[in-house]
Amino acid sequence: MQTQQRTGFARVGRAAPVAAVPRRAGRAQGRRTTVQVEARKVALLGAAGGIGQPLALLLKMNRMVTELALYDIANVAGVAADISHCNTPVKVTSATGPEELPNALKGAELILIPAGVPRKPGMTRDDLFNTNAGIVKALVEAVAKHAPGAVIQIVTNPVNSTVPIAAETLKKAGVYDPRKLMGVTSLDIVRANTFVAEAKGLDMKDVDVPVVG
Ligand SMILES: NC(=O)c1ccc[n+]([C@@H]2O[C@H](COP(=O)([O-])OP(=O)(O)OC[C@H]3O[C@@H](n4cnc5c(N)ncnc54)[C@H](O)[C@@H]3O)[C@@H](O)[C@H]2O)c1
Repeated sequence: MQTQQRTGFARVGRAAPVAAVPRRAGRAQGRRTTVQVEARKVALLGAAGGIGQPLALLLKMNRMVTELALYDIANVAGVAADISHCNTPVKVTSATGPEELPNALKGAELILIPAGVPRKPGMTRDDLFNTNAGIVKALVEAVAKHAPGAVIQIVTNPVNSTVPIAAETLKKAGVYDPRKLMGVTSLDIVRANTFVAEAKGLDMKDVDVPVVG
């Protein structure tokens, strides 16, 4: 069986750039095929943290992503080196400090923001507000300037406050699109599912608790 393998980007008409990603198909027969997927750059801001690192690994393993820009104010070069060794075709870059942020953002279609500080024992999510509000505002100002059309997902808590801060920042910059800004509530959803399943003696896979806000 002939092996077809192409790499790199190509433009098709006016459509978004595409990247040829080799995929294994029909492994039992030893066949290898290549499919075209759109070039999709994702930027992860706060990539060296407790949330950022596993999220970076998940994105590196995601076939819909072609480029992954990891940004943090600390320790990101080592994280990016480790993640880049994972044997998937996603190109990984690292950037640190405000002067390198524009390059991390340029061309990104999706921007995930877990940058900030987490809760310490005894703190509520609202206690995080002052520190994290400033971090999110500064990052979103940069997004508005360097990747104004990107979808933005805010992980940084308190999400019900950091998302409105991001919205106001985007409005001020004249690039607010409510369809492209969202808060990530996955942790609250999986927690709610787990607690309800435990309390009711149900199978976790049968429980789906929607979390709004
Ligand atoms: N939405 C959710 O479901 C959910 C779930 C878990 C955690 N969180 C929140 O996510 C945030 C991160 O949690 P964590 O456990 O990863 O914390 P962490 O302290 O381990 O990591 C935060 C990272 O952000 C970086 N950072 C700080 N300021 C930055 C800036 N200006 N620019 C870029 N990076 C910056 C830090 O250097 C660090 O690497 C917290 O606010 C936490 O409450 C949200």
